[in-house]
Amino acid sequence: MSQKPIRKAVFPVAGLGTRFLPATKAIPKEMLPIIDRPLIQYAVDEAREAGIEQLIFVTGRGKTAIVEHFDMAFELETTMKDREKTLEVLEPTRIQPGNLVTVRQQVPLGLGHAIWCARAIVGDEPFAVFLPDELMIGQPGGKGGCMKQMVEAYEQVGGNVISVLELPEDEVSNYGVIAPGESRGTLTEVRGLVEKPKRQDAPSNLIISGRYILQPEVMRVLDRQEKGAGGEIQLTDAMAQMIGKQPFHAVTFDGRRFDCGSKTGFVEATLALALEREDMADEVRAMARRLLGC
Ligand code: G1P
Repeated sequence: MSQKPIRKAVFPVAGLGTRFLPATKAIPKEMLPIIDRPLIQYAVDEAREAGIEQLIFVTGRGKTAIVEHFDMAFELETTMKDREKTLEVLEPTRIQPGNLVTVRQQVPLGLGHAIWCARAIVGDEPFAVFLPDELMIGQPGGKGGCMKQMVEAYEQVGGNVISVLELPEDEVSNYGVIAPGESRGTLTEVRGLVEKPKRQDAPSNLIISGRYILQPEVMRVLDRQEKGAGGEIQLTDAMAQMIGKQPFHAVTFDGRRFDCGSKTGFVEATLALALEREDMADEVRAMARRLLGC
């Protein structure tokens, strides 16, 4: 079956990042680096690997550094060239003119509201959503990044596709949780969705891990601005209303996920990626041993 291609991705980046204060007082949390790449860069790389062309950032006040990061830095480039330095390191920050669009979320009314703010730019086509806090890293030599795997699944089944992963039962209350139907390989039918359920009410321990492929009709549901868990307009609630009307599937990502919305997750990601980098793995391994006294 041939599906409409996924050309656009929405990145909700308006959050205040209070968990990382004071680091995030003047710097957007999406600009905090894992080694030498800001978090947002990993999400954008994953999007481009999946064939996505247009990036839509839903921003707010104090978030201009994110846009600057993907802009051409004329003085920097000229100075580097004069000093005969290679510009290769800047390659991932280059976006074709016109392929980065920003919209503002003026009031923090929830994730569903943030996505809704992008409705005019998304228009009438399916689109992807990336929550940059969730760092998804494909297996070395494996099937690629999370969105790439999701797009492949979407080409088979169409409709809406979200990424899920299994967590211990006592952690699921912080997330959106799916009620799973039949499974085939890494693909699971989604029969229901609940945002931040109480532990005893959770329909499974499969949580939504921050990557979505959605049909534009979700925007019509979000138009109603209905509030859900925590008094916020929840994307999960809007998606739940699409079940039964359109195909809805979950993909279990073949790769690793780091929760970079938490400080320990951030440290874990930094260490894990450093241990894989040819330019520093040996040194970091020796350093970790020394620190652990083993
Ligand atoms: C959001 C979503 C939730 C999802 C989570 C992934 O929650 O609402 O469904 O499981 O991201 O990180 P938040 O972390 O914004 O509370």
